[in-house]
Amino acid sequence: MRSGLLWMSRNQWLKQHLPELPFAQRAVRRFMPGEQVEDALGAADRLDGEGFRVLFTHLGENITEVAEADAVAAHYHDLLDRSEARVAAGHRPIEVSVKPTQLGLDIDESLCDSHCADLAAHAERTGTWFWLDMEGSAYTERTIALYERLKADHPRVGLAIQAYLRRSPTDIERLLPLQPCVRLVKGAYDEPAELAHRDRTDVDAAYLALAIRLAGAAGAGQARLCLGTHDTRLVERISAAVEPTGVNRSATEVHMLYGIREDELARLRDAGYPCSSLVAYGEFWYAWYMRRLAERPANVVFALRQLVP
Ligand code: FDA
Repeated sequence: MRSGLLWMSRNQWLKQHLPELPFAQRAVRRFMPGEQVEDALGAADRLDGEGFRVLFTHLGENITEVAEADAVAAHYHDLLDRSEARVAAGHRPIEVSVKPTQLGLDIDESLCDSHCADLAAHAERTGTWFWLDMEGSAYTERTIALYERLKADHPRVGLAIQAYLRRSPTDIERLLPLQPCVRLVKGAYDEPAELAHRDRTDVDAAYLALAIRLAGAAGAGQARLCLGTHDTRLVERISAAVEPTGVNRSATEVHMLYGIREDELARLRDAGYPCSSLVAYGEFWYAWYMRRLAERPANVVFALRQLVP
């Protein structure tokens, strides 16, 4: 089922036609507050009031025109200005999380570099953070190299690293001298066994080992570690391993996706973990939404139920 749903996420015909169907539009609302930035800001007000930090991602990926990349960058610059205004009004800043292919990585690497550098500088000026999401394995090396270039000039830049990739332990060692900011995720794409662990137990073991390595650096003030997962048992296993070594729970932030396991996020917040919700919005939600279905096939039943108006 997971592979089938991930195949559907890449299918161009479905990408064009499925989002037009009212039942799909109803189903996606479980994972995003709406398509407009105002919908996301409304969700941020609520989450902020409940003691959560927020990250925003304006959905889209693999854009093919320079003008599209420019428009995406302009959208995020406007968002950073709004974040600054919200901070002045007493809210927490909004961190932004972007896919490199949404800023033109497929078209022209220097265009993507320049948009990312401008956004990272803007995030820094406005007291917040600029994140690079990690896409499929065809982009891993280029995204890490992009991160290294950005991090040389901008301290407040973060990078998602996928624990399922066999290369990730080496990548973490490569990044540690930069005092990185890492969001550790399990990985959401359909990767072959030679590149990625495919068994859930192996992915969890890889995640645990990488988290322990990064938590040591975070505890020593040499990294920022965000556990991007809804797997709260795994979060607790990580704490159980690192807390006896003196790493405080404030060094292991937890990030979850909007609409998923918010009760568990609240429980971790109450237990002393800094907790954030990543709020996605925008009209290009199809591929992203199909990856959410693939993560938990029970979500398909929920989506099909929306066939009944
Ligand atoms: P796991 O799949 O083991 O789920 C743990 C529990 O959480 C499940 O039992 C289920 O109850 C619940 N759960 C998980 N997913 C759910 C869903 N979709 N709907 C409902 N319940 C669900 N990936 C990537 O490749 N690149 C990236 O940049 C990012 N970025 C990112 C940011 C953040 C903040 C998060 C939380 C996740 C990502 N991901 C990602 C996605 C990540 O790689 C992974 O696919 C999902 O988080 C699902 O794995 P879990 O770690 O949640 O564990």
